[in-house]
Amino acid sequence: MIRANEHFLKLRSSYLFAEIAGRLAAFKEKHPQHKVIRLGIGDVTCALPRACIEAFHKAVDEMADERSFRGYGPEQGYGFLREKIARYDYQERGAEIYTDEIFISDGAKCDCGNIQELFAQDSVVAVPDPVYPVYVDTNVMAGRTGAWREGGYGGLVYLPSTEENGYVPEPPGQKVDLIYLCFPNNPTGAAIGRRRLQSWVEYAAENGSLIIYDAAYEAFIRDNDIPHSIFEIPGARRVALEIRSFSKTAGFTGTRCAYTVIPRECMANTSSGDGVSVRELWLRRQTTKFNGVSYPVQRAAEAVFSEQGRIQVRELIDYYMYNAELIRKKFSEMGYMCTGGDNSPYIWIKTGMPSWDFFTLLLEEAGVVCTPGSGFGSCGEGYVRISAFNNHNQVEKALYNIGRILGPKKMKKVIQKESGSIDNRKEV
Ligand SMILES: Cc1ncc(COP(=O)(O)O)c(C=O)c1O
Repeated sequence: MIRANEHFLKLRSSYLFAEIAGRLAAFKEKHPQHKVIRLGIGDVTCALPRACIEAFHKAVDEMADERSFRGYGPEQGYGFLREKIARYDYQERGAEIYTDEIFISDGAKCDCGNIQELFAQDSVVAVPDPVYPVYVDTNVMAGRTGAWREGGYGGLVYLPSTEENGYVPEPPGQKVDLIYLCFPNNPTGAAIGRRRLQSWVEYAAENGSLIIYDAAYEAFIRDNDIPHSIFEIPGARRVALEIRSFSKTAGFTGTRCAYTVIPRECMANTSSGDGVSVRELWLRRQTTKFNGVSYPVQRAAEAVFSEQGRIQVRELIDYYMYNAELIRKKFSEMGYMCTGGDNSPYIWIKTGMPSWDFFTLLLEEAGVVCTPGSGFGSCGEGYVRISAFNNHNQVEKALYNIGRILGPKKMKKVIQKESGSIDNRKEV
C-alpha cells in the first residue's frame, strides 16, 4: 500500500475555525431562537466595487466572442494587471518594483503556503506567535518541524508578539533562514513602523535570511508613517519577498486574486555556495504547477487601479474601518486593553480570562462570535480577535449586546461568574 506523508499527522487535528463552527452549531441547536452576530472569521461582507463589477462583466462578454476570447493566459499574470500593480502599489509609493517581479495568483493563502517549497528541507523557520496558521502548517506538512509539544512545533523558532513589544516581534537572538512577517498583522492588528521594519531587513542581511512579508492588509493602513511595503525599506530587495491580496482590499475573497513580488536581487544559496535567483525558482514553480488566474478576474482586479476603482476601494476600506473604530472605542471604554483597529480591520482584545472562556461568554450572553486568540498560538492565550468585517447595523447591535454584559456596571457580575484568572482585567 502507498505510504502516507506522515508529516501531516503531526498537524493538530482541530483547525481553529472548524472548532468555532462546531461550538456555534452546538449553541444554535440548544438555542434555535437566538440570532448570532459573527465578528469572528475574517471574511468580507460588502459587494465588489462597481468598477470591478463593470470590468468583470465586460471581460466575460469578451469571452463570449471568438474574436476577443482568451484561452490560457500567462502563468505569471497578464501584463495589464502587473503593470498597474508595479506603478500604483509600488513605484508611486517610492518602492522600486518592476513588472517582471510580480506574479499574479489566485490567493495569498496559496502563495504563503507554496513559497516554502523553494527552500531547503533543513531551513530554520521563524514565525510570529500568535500567527496566521498557514505559515506554520505548510512547513509542518513539508517536514520542516518536529512534533507538536508544549504549545508549539519542535524546530520552529517562535517570535513572541506581546504587550511588552507592542505586538511587533524583535529579531531573534539566533540565526534563522526563513522569517514570516505579517503587517498589518492578522490576528493582532498591529502595524510595524519604518525603524522596526528596517531592523528586520538588517537582521536578514546580516544572517543571510529571507523574509516572507505578508501584506494582505496593507490597504487598511491609515497612518502616513507606516510603510505599506517592505520594499519601502532600503536593502529589502536583497532579503525579502512580499505577498499581497485583493481579498480584503477590494472584496475578492470569493473572486480570488492576489500576487507575490520577488525582486531580481533576492537570492538563495545552493549547498555548494552558488547563488540562485528566488524569482527564477518561483517562475519555474508557477509555470510548472499553476496555469494562471482567469482573464475576467484579472480584468476585475485591474479595475481596482482605475480612477473610479481607487475611490470605491477607499470607500470600502473606510466602511470597515468605521466598524473597527466603533469596536475599539467600545472595548476601550469598558476598560479592556486593545490593539489594532487603527491600521487594520482586526482588534486584539486582552480578555483577562482564558480565550475560550471569553469566546463562550460573548456567544452565550451576547450572541456574538469572536475568535479565541489561543487558536493562533500560545502568546494569543488571554486574547480574542474581533473582526470589523460586517455591516454597521450588525456591529452596532453586537456592541450593544456586549455592552449590556460587559459594561462597567456589569463587569463585577461577569467576573464573579467566571472562575478563570481576572488579574489582567483593567477595570472591575
Ligand atoms: C495574513 C493573511 N494572509 C493571507 C490571507 C489569505 O488571503 P487570500 O484570500 O488572498 O487567499 C489571509 C486571509 O485571511 C490572511 O489573513
